[in-house]
Amino acid sequence: MNILIVGTGYVGTTTGLVFCEKGHQVTGLDLDEKKIKALKTGKLHFYEPFLDGLLNKHVTNETIKFTKKAKKAIKENDVIFICVGTPKRSDGSADLTYVKNVAESIGKYMTQYKVIVTKSTVPVGTADLVTKWIQESQAEAIPFDVVSNPEFLREGSALQDAFNPDRIVIGTTSEPARKIMRELYQDFSCPILETNPKASEMIKYAANSFLAMKISFINELARVCDVLGININDVSTGMGLDNRIGPQFLKAGMGYGGSCFPKDVNALIQIAKENETTLTILEKVVEVNETQPLIFVEKMKQALGGDLKNKTIALLGLSFKANTDDTRESPSLFLIERLLAEEAKVRVHDPIVKITGPTEQFQTIEETISRADALVICTDWDEYKNIDWASIKPLIGQPYLFDGRNILDKDLMESLGFHYVGVANH
Ligand code: UDX
Repeated sequence: MNILIVGTGYVGTTTGLVFCEKGHQVTGLDLDEKKIKALKTGKLHFYEPFLDGLLNKHVTNETIKFTKKAKKAIKENDVIFICVGTPKRSDGSADLTYVKNVAESIGKYMTQYKVIVTKSTVPVGTADLVTKWIQESQAEAIPFDVVSNPEFLREGSALQDAFNPDRIVIGTTSEPARKIMRELYQDFSCPILETNPKASEMIKYAANSFLAMKISFINELARVCDVLGININDVSTGMGLDNRIGPQFLKAGMGYGGSCFPKDVNALIQIAKENETTLTILEKVVEVNETQPLIFVEKMKQALGGDLKNKTIALLGLSFKANTDDTRESPSLFLIERLLAEEAKVRVHDPIVKITGPTEQFQTIEETISRADALVICTDWDEYKNIDWASIKPLIGQPYLFDGRNILDKDLMESLGFHYVGVANH
């Protein structure tokens, strides 16, 4: 099939390359000249393990092409995936400006039947809106169908997730569109759920919100376990062994970040409000998440004699999780903001992320921790798990070690003379 992917960000690029691997001819369309230029030469404009190899392969084979020219791209492709961003508005709802622009271009330029698929996470009812926007932009009525087909891949393991999804959700009421979608996904060995567009759109929000809820649950429980001296990791393991609960997304830490969970939980809360209902549980999920990094500030204050003024804090990890260069809604950034408000001096390190601002960033872990009053691990990079703590300890001013991801062995750290504080990592 000839597939057009509109929006060559994280989801769009990965989705396009997966379809290339399945034998389809793909075109990536984006308004951003810089992105298109880079992608045409096989360069990714974001970090994702293994994706650049696949991009190079398909750029060389010409199974994927990139363009800025909407008219030609829309005319030449019969299946169009909308993968543009749906950023958070100030009230928490999703901003559909980019989706609307794409729908209007499709309406303007289409000359024959098309299947338009929304992959971006969009509010319930967006498929109907996309239909309306396309119809309003058409000079004459040409048939088309809109399908909701949400994406569930994670940053850092995008390819693995996109090739081996747990399920594929297809939301449409049109038989011809359903047939095309089935054909597109025939090689995938996972359950395919066929439903209507609204349920499909809700499934994406519900799944992300449920996972966020698991994280906030374990993080809040960690607060109680901390007081009681109980190891939260053991509690997670014990809970996760129950098949009805499952082991995933029960790792206590600094709270969830990234481009999806914070945005989607808020958007679902907003959807409920707009429909005169409330999602009380999700409101609390957000509250727990927002306060999670602050616990570390309090613990640091306690350890360092009451306040952090002029104290040097070395912060390891800026991305919202390991194996990505994404800092959107990263707990590290919230922590930095709080530490600076407390008038601490913040030195930062990350294996790939570079930031500017009122912090000092260093190339090596050794330079970052040099003479620091405390260290805090914010991202679960393997590089931090594998630090030779015995050899770097003499570089640190005071051996206060705050492990926001529970990646270190408490007993080992204490035996090396560190004052270790994890997330109920007893
Ligand atoms: C998420 C969803 O998992 C994915 O299905 C959706 O398509 C996009 O949003 P992503 O944001 O890439 O993916 O990362 P994910 O691995 O889900 O982690 C989200 C956040 O939760 C990270 O900050 C992570 O560190 C945190 N997390 C995750 C925990 O704190 N504990 C856990 O047990 C799991």
